[in-house]
Amino acid sequence: MSVARLTTHNFRNLLPSTISFHPKLNFFVGDNGSGKSSLLEAIFFLGHGKSFRTSKLEHLATYENDNFVVSIKDDLDLQLGLSKSLATGKTHIKINGENHARLSELAKNIAVQIVTPESFKLFFGGPKERRRFVDLGMFHVKHNFSQQWREFNRVLKQRNACIRNNLDKATLDYWSELFCTLSLEVTAIRTQYVEDLIAELPEWLELLLPNIADKISVQYLRGWPQKKELVVALADGYEKELAYGYSLYGAHKFDVKFLIAKQPLESLLSRGQQKLFLLALTFAQAKLIARVNRVKPILLIDDIGAELDLISRKALSTAINKLDCQVVITAIDEGVLRPIINDAKSIDEESNKKTNYHMFHVKHGGILPVNNSVMIE
Ligand SMILES: Nc1ncnc2c1ncn2[C@@H]1O[C@H](COP(=O)(O)OP(=O)(O)OP(=O)(O)O)[C@@H](O)[C@H]1O
Ligand SMILES: [Mg+2]
Repeated sequence: MSVARLTTHNFRNLLPSTISFHPKLNFFVGDNGSGKSSLLEAIFFLGHGKSFRTSKLEHLATYENDNFVVSIKDDLDLQLGLSKSLATGKTHIKINGENHARLSELAKNIAVQIVTPESFKLFFGGPKERRRFVDLGMFHVKHNFSQQWREFNRVLKQRNACIRNNLDKATLDYWSELFCTLSLEVTAIRTQYVEDLIAELPEWLELLLPNIADKISVQYLRGWPQKKELVVALADGYEKELAYGYSLYGAHKFDVKFLIAKQPLESLLSRGQQKLFLLALTFAQAKLIARVNRVKPILLIDDIGAELDLISRKALSTAINKLDCQVVITAIDEGVLRPIINDAKSIDEESNKKTNYHMFHVKHGGILPVNNSVMIE
């Protein structure tokens, strides 16, 4: 799917508005504090049921309001809506006018990926963000995975409670056995997914980091020592787990490490290169999601100019064209977008279409279409 229209009400500083999107390229340009990230946040919220920059929902409703609404109509007229009342804490999810209880129902219909100027710091900062990244792809690519992952987490919780409360060994053994079985199942699916992701990556690295693409390697850590069976790792780690009070090994502890010349990527690459790497990885993941054909991913890139020079932005433009999915980009000024706009215009000429992108100016929360770019249907 691609977003055709976005409507927000009481969301951050955004004035109530309905925005008409281009199926491929959309640019939002505005000064600091105008509302660009808020706009991406609204789309992200619909895909994830949470924000990418705050865990406090009260931050999302416009000051002095206690509710907000975000809704989308896609290119096939599917309507997705989410409203949140801060007063009651209730979330209402609507798909084509019908109420739904689960956020995952929304997420089945829309796959939103985001890269912000902070993303690479989070991504390289610790395993949590890398796990989140991989899990998002898994959710959209391996459809049975969610069910198994829920079951795994239920057992993990039980096992953790056993450890924390120092229950008898027989009870712990019972949960450990289940835990091992599920860990192996989850790991088998995840390993396959990560292998697919790794296979997809070089193409995007060649475009975005051509000078070092062939030096980058990926290491997948399944969540327990490489040379041990999980059951042995658990037996050997029994005392340690009791001391920590939770499960130290298992499928929940997986990680993906990226190396260059056998060293962690983040300690050798520049900030701009790290951002390009994360973009390449995001593109690779988007391609895998698109290939499954349930949903087309929507890629949000916040403040594209941050860290990237002209050559990198040109390379990014080539990658965006190759990706063939909807992209929403924000920038502080139009100049930063020039390589991407120029590419879009040359494609316009070839295809004889009027426009190949929509451009908006964002000012004090208001979003104004820029003439010639937005065709009003
Ligand atoms: N709940 C809220 N209600 C009203 N305004 C808010 C709320 N939360 C944040 N703001 C304000 O909204 C404005 C837009 O913030 P946003 O982060 O979207 O700006 P931006 O265009 O991305 O800026 P930058 O270029 O600096 O990243 C800011 O002035 C911010 O203080
Ligand atoms: Mg911003």
